[in-house]
Amino acid sequence: MLSPEQIESFRRDGFLVLEEFVESDACAALRARAIEIVDDWQPSETRTAFTTIEDESPRNAEFLASGGIVWCFFEEEAFGPDGQLRQPKELSINKIGHAMHDLDPVFERFTYTSRLAEVAADIGLVDALALQSMYIFKQPSIGGEVTCHQDATFLYTEPISVTGFWFAIEDATLENGCLWAAPGGHRTGLRQLFKRTGAMTDEDGTVIETLDPTPLPTPPDDLVPLEVPAGTMVVLDGQLPHWSGANRSAHSRHAYTVHCISAAADYPAWNWLQRPADMPLRRLATVAA
Ligand code: FE2
Repeated sequence: MLSPEQIESFRRDGFLVLEEFVESDACAALRARAIEIVDDWQPSETRTAFTTIEDESPRNAEFLASGGIVWCFFEEEAFGPDGQLRQPKELSINKIGHAMHDLDPVFERFTYTSRLAEVAADIGLVDALALQSMYIFKQPSIGGEVTCHQDATFLYTEPISVTGFWFAIEDATLENGCLWAAPGGHRTGLRQLFKRTGAMTDEDGTVIETLDPTPLPTPPDDLVPLEVPAGTMVVLDGQLPHWSGANRSAHSRHAYTVHCISAAADYPAWNWLQRPADMPLRRLATVAA
């Protein structure tokens, strides 16, 4: 799938932009299915806002259980002071996560393709397991910032193997909060680990452990914007610092991501994402249509 130049550019920069990787019909089908999932979903009493901002790391049970289910998470700014939604539910959801690729047939078809497996193999992930999926809405006006982070902080393996496959379902622009990346930043070491305390103590929650206090690049100046049309796939090295700003525009910025790990790597029990024993991870192309 990839040319030697593309593989070289991925190794050098830590990311690779592949325009026209997905056909517009497939983007439209995924978008429509995501909206259906939100329509059918009923929020529980305790609402779940999602953020990667350290001090407000999600600690609730729904988040910690979401590795093996399909759940909707609200935007932080979705609620007014009265606790009521400021806008309709379909415009209030930050993202859907984290196992649609195994539980929803539309997402499963989109994810388990031989083309994706080939790209993964080309960059060295010959035994890619699909670990986690997210559909990110980046809603108009209230789509929240995702602070600069490295995915290996949240999905750690020994050795580090997590690789992100990010699909633009709608055009991603400077105005609607496109992805930004720090070229070469994947070679500067992993800064933090996001650990689940339930594996270590009686109380289940999460904690951040610092491995290296060197700050991550500061947005936006230390990163480059990846403005891409719908249908583009961006491959992200698990140690690449990346960021996306808030969306204050009138246009949503839908994206779908799949995070894969190597089947040969060790997956610690303290990772926040744990799958039920009856939901083993599957190889990328094994369910290909
Ligand atoms: Fe990320």
